[in-house]
Amino acid sequence: METSAPAAVVVLAAGAGTRMKSRTPKVLHPIGGRSLLGHAITAAEGTGPAELVVVVRHERERLIQHLADHAPEVTIADQDEIPGTGRAVQCGLEKVSASSGTVLVTYGDVPLLEAGTLRELVAAHEQAGAAVTVLSARVADPTGYGRILRSDDGTEVVGIVEHKDATESQRGIDEINSGIYAFDLQVLRDALGRIGTDNAQGEMYLTDVLGIARSDGRTVRAMVTEDAMMVEGANDRVQLAQLGAEMNRRILERHMRAGVTIVDPSTTWIDADVSIGTDAVILPGVQLHGATDIGEDAVIGPDCTLRDTEVGARAEVVRTHSVLAVIGPEATVGPFTYLRPGTALGARGKIGGFVETKNAQIGEDAKVPHLSYVGDAEIGEGTNIGAATIFANYDGQRKHRTTVGKHVRVGSDSVLVAPVAIGDGAATGAGTVVRKDVPPGALAVNAVAQRNVEGWTLRRRAGTAAEDAARAALDAQSEPGAESTAGPDADDNKEHLQR
Ligand code: UD1
Ligand code: CA
Repeated sequence: METSAPAAVVVLAAGAGTRMKSRTPKVLHPIGGRSLLGHAITAAEGTGPAELVVVVRHERERLIQHLADHAPEVTIADQDEIPGTGRAVQCGLEKVSASSGTVLVTYGDVPLLEAGTLRELVAAHEQAGAAVTVLSARVADPTGYGRILRSDDGTEVVGIVEHKDATESQRGIDEINSGIYAFDLQVLRDALGRIGTDNAQGEMYLTDVLGIARSDGRTVRAMVTEDAMMVEGANDRVQLAQLGAEMNRRILERHMRAGVTIVDPSTTWIDADVSIGTDAVILPGVQLHGATDIGEDAVIGPDCTLRDTEVGARAEVVRTHSVLAVIGPEATVGPFTYLRPGTALGARGKIGGFVETKNAQIGEDAKVPHLSYVGDAEIGEGTNIGAATIFANYDGQRKHRTTVGKHVRVGSDSVLVAPVAIGDGAATGAGTVVRKDVPPGALAVNAVAQRNVEGWTLRRRAGTAAEDAARAALDAQSEPGAESTAGPDADDNKEHLQR
């Protein structure tokens, strides 16, 4: 179907949404990583309208702030104290400068509606030369909805009757008004000027426009959608959760059809704006939030929460919580790893178990494999940070940076007290507290020299299993021909520790 962009979209968001029982305005509740209103605006923008107006009233200031933060391009219209969807659209049209063309009306609390459906609505509307085309659906329980009244032959719509105003036989109609329409702008402006509030709710009903247009001899049509869930609104938190689950199901399906393996859709949650490359594998228990971007062939999970995180191709991320981090291609992260904002791990790098990082640039092939805190740091390529190393970045008043060069070996249990720098190719002994810069190629050591008190256990722990074990080992050593049990690293350790 040939589709053209509408002259304007008017998104209604002035209602109170009292059934949410929330201090947060209904349309600002999030699902799939965006507010309900955010989803409505994304769908509206997808039609490429010349003008996009959002009508507000309830919690006006908070909605305006949200729009300024997330959709500064939209025009805001204020609804006055006259209630009803008809008045809301009338107030919205005061901000529309076009004088002719097609206008779409949508709701701020209908998050599953897609731009593609709106484009189909515009195309059907314009091809039929209609004055109004309403998006309708057939539902099992139409209670509460406006009902579509059709001509005897069923082709034309003669009007919409609200549930509260409907007769018993009208309430038997199962075709409902979704509240989403395409209008001819001139017809809409004219008809809105002629509607009153003489109805069960004392409101200006937008739905009255259809009956007026029909009486004027114009063409009024309905486009029935098979996808009733897509036009459902979230009125309370039960529906919010249902729509959130359905949105997630649709997002997962889109990724799977595009070539992503999702092993367990029932425990996987992916926000609308996440992108995932071909042949990536998402294991059970993964949540991908915000602007997270997963590269091709990456393996994520099990059990990861990644927010606004970029993961390179072929990287592997296991049991990790990550916020605003970049994980390079072929890098590995986890398990039990916490990446905080500003973490950037280079290609083939590693951040291992029980490591927390923050504002840390870790170079290509560099490794922080075990039990470390790395904050406000730069680590050069090929460097290895020994187990349980702490980057002490906070002096109680200010944060400072640590720089570790390329191909450095930081010994286990080192404390790097910032600000400090370790030069390329340098090393630190196990247990070193680095307070002064280490020149390139130097070994830094300052752990207390080791003193062995021979026979201490035999004297001070007599009668214990430790004494028995020590005595047996000493006896075996003193037998002729016994070999030393010291490992090959023993001499190295001596050099580090006994100065
Ligand atoms: C409306 C329709 C009904 C349809 C239903 C679908 C009318 C008269 N009725 O009913 O036929 O089946 O939607 O959900 O249009 N809003 C404003 N200003 C207002 C009132 C509402 O902006 O003064 C906005 C709300 O924020 C919401 C939307 O319009 O986004 C619908 O309002 P709601 O009160 O839910 O409409 P219904 O009475 O349920
Ligand atoms: Ca409603």
